[in-house]
Amino acid sequence: MRWGSYFCAMKKSPIGVFDSGYGGLTVLKEIVKQLPEYDYLYLGDNARAPYGPRSFETVYQYTLQCVVWFFEQGCELVILACNTASAKALRNIQQKDLPKIGSHKRVLGVIRPSTEIIGNYSTNGAIGILGTAGTVLSESYPIEIHKFFPGREVFQQACPMWVPLIENGEFESEGANYFVQKYLQDLLAQSPKIDTILLACTHYPLLMDKIKQYLPAGITLVSQGEIVAKSLLQWLESHHDMENLISKSGSLRFCTTDSALDFDNHASLFFGREVKSQHIFL
Ligand code: DGL
Repeated sequence: MRWGSYFCAMKKSPIGVFDSGYGGLTVLKEIVKQLPEYDYLYLGDNARAPYGPRSFETVYQYTLQCVVWFFEQGCELVILACNTASAKALRNIQQKDLPKIGSHKRVLGVIRPSTEIIGNYSTNGAIGILGTAGTVLSESYPIEIHKFFPGREVFQQACPMWVPLIENGEFESEGANYFVQKYLQDLLAQSPKIDTILLACTHYPLLMDKIKQYLPAGITLVSQGEIVAKSLLQWLESHHDMENLISKSGSLRFCTTDSALDFDNHASLFFGREVKSQHIFL
């Protein structure tokens, strides 16, 4: 059987979108805006979030388990809408696991689309990265940015308190004021040349207004949702075999590894509209 007819014979399935918790919803929101015709299946591993402080091995094992779950649901394409999982698990999954699981299946992350473009935002050639401790320690951003923009300087700051503040609904509190100012100052103290800051964690758009409040004038703040959505659109345009495998009825299904009620109560803040989820066991 030729590949073309093999793909035609296969059942169509939604695009899987994954995050450790709610953050990936900020990416899914932009993807749905730009690509409304596709079906989507979202999974938040809320029972084991946050991933940020966990070891490489743990994030890899958790992420792989979730990716396998998507494949069991029939998904052929999975987006890791989580920087921590993209930094710590994606390469292993792409290189070690996919060839064993089924080589036509694809798993994509959020770091590559962001690093391909972020250098274009900076006039001074100095880029700041705000992310989880895991993302920062992985050095994925400096390594990838230097591939696309060799001359740029990259400065990183881990913001370990931001995800817990956001996940606990404290992103408008006094505590959030303190920790937003603190991590911004710590980043900007690394170089007066920084003129572009990337929010390299899919949770951080919820702190956007607060970050802007404390950001000195002249610094461009970039979040990933739109960038990732545009990159997915372009990727699908050049991968027709995969595009043909995606079902298109504009549906959304949400799953969580923790309480569905909690998920529904929090998720709309990230997704911008009401969400009805289903609990799953991995
Ligand atoms: N949303 C995840 C990211 O983009 C981080 C959340 C977590 O620490 O689990 O890195």
